[in-house]
Amino acid sequence: MSSYISSKNNLMHAVFLSGLIIILSACGSGSGAGTSENPLTSNPSVGNYTGPAPATADVQSFKLALWDNLVPNNRCGSCHNETQNPRFVRADDINLAYSEANSIVDLADPGNSLMVQKVRGGHNCWLASDDACGDIIESYISNWAGSALGSQGREIELEAPPLLDPGSSKNFPADSTLFSTTVYPLLNTYCAGCHADSAAVPQSPFFASTDVDAAYSAALTRMDLETPANSRFVIRLGSEFHNCWDDCPSNSSAMQAAITTFSDAITPTQVDPSLVTSKALSLVDGIISSAGGRHETNVIALYEFKTGSGTTVYDTSGIEPS
Ligand code: HEC
Ligand code: HEC
Repeated sequence: MSSYISSKNNLMHAVFLSGLIIILSACGSGSGAGTSENPLTSNPSVGNYTGPAPATADVQSFKLALWDNLVPNNRCGSCHNETQNPRFVRADDINLAYSEANSIVDLADPGNSLMVQKVRGGHNCWLASDDACGDIIESYISNWAGSALGSQGREIELEAPPLLDPGSSKNFPADSTLFSTTVYPLLNTYCAGCHADSAAVPQSPFFASTDVDAAYSAALTRMDLETPANSRFVIRLGSEFHNCWDDCPSNSSAMQAAITTFSDAITPTQVDPSLVTSKALSLVDGIISSAGGRHETNVIALYEFKTGSGTTVYDTSGIEPS
């Protein structure tokens, strides 16, 4: 009994729906409201490929990720076809295009590819920003590399630091004698009103203390022997206008001159030539890998604003249509 009712209901539904469709299609003509088509945002059509089949799976992913996107005539296809070297978008044989492309891409570090750098340097970009084209081609190559290397998502790009030999460097003398005749007189004269333990309202650091040794140890980290202008004492006066005794620019240069005199009198420590040394590494060379490495695998939208100026945000995802 119940099955009889439900199938009868389905029947009624079907009748009702077809009635609705008839009514709707009747509305379509002559009801006056104009329809406008969505603008075409896809690539110009490629008149697609008819040559030999891709020889390997990697050739296939090259075609999908890179070739299909660069072959249109308003991109690279009008030149780098069968005639212009490197012929990475030739249409006669995808396998030959693949081997030409391989010589101008770096799958391990897509940003380092000649193809990316050439376009970034101002070579036939199809957008207003050369960097945007570079970023987009970089994404194409990453997408290709992603399927080649079996990984997805952003990876930390490790770069070898420049090779440097350890050189000579200046070290602070162990005792305060040199300091007491060069930098200390300025500090003691003009800063002791606050930066001494004996001041009415003592303000640490006590680099102007009446005890020269104590003053010296508090002053160490505020003097830069290699580049005196970078010393905290100089910057505080010159750019932060902190308690100058008359005119900040000239006080700052007096302080810099004192630190320079101090530094010039120190003989640089040489590396003992009998030692076997490893290469030198500066701090900035060692922190590159802290950038990137973010989890982006399932991200829905990511805006990077890499162009840095202007009012256009380019889609550099490498997924077409952009
Ligand atoms: C109007 C023609 C034209 C277009 C369009 C064009 N190129 Fe080129 N490309 C050339 C010519 C000519 C050369 C060789 C001379 C040179 O190196 O500039 C070249 C050379 C290159 C080279 C080799 C550089 C080297 O040092 O060996 C690369 C890579 C390259 N193009 C990439 C591209 C990419 C990617 C596109 C598409 C965004 C593109 N080109 C679009 C004409 C073009
Ligand atoms: C009127 C009191 C006063 C005088 C005089 C004074 N300072 Fe300071 N200084 C302070 C105070 C307060 C602080 C802590 C707050 C701050 O950092 O501004 C400080 C902090 C500092 C610091 C450590 C903080 C930092 O940013 O590195 C330095 C260096 C410094 N002063 C340099 C000097 C020098 C050089 C002189 C002499 C030319 C001087 N100060 C004279 C009050 C003074």
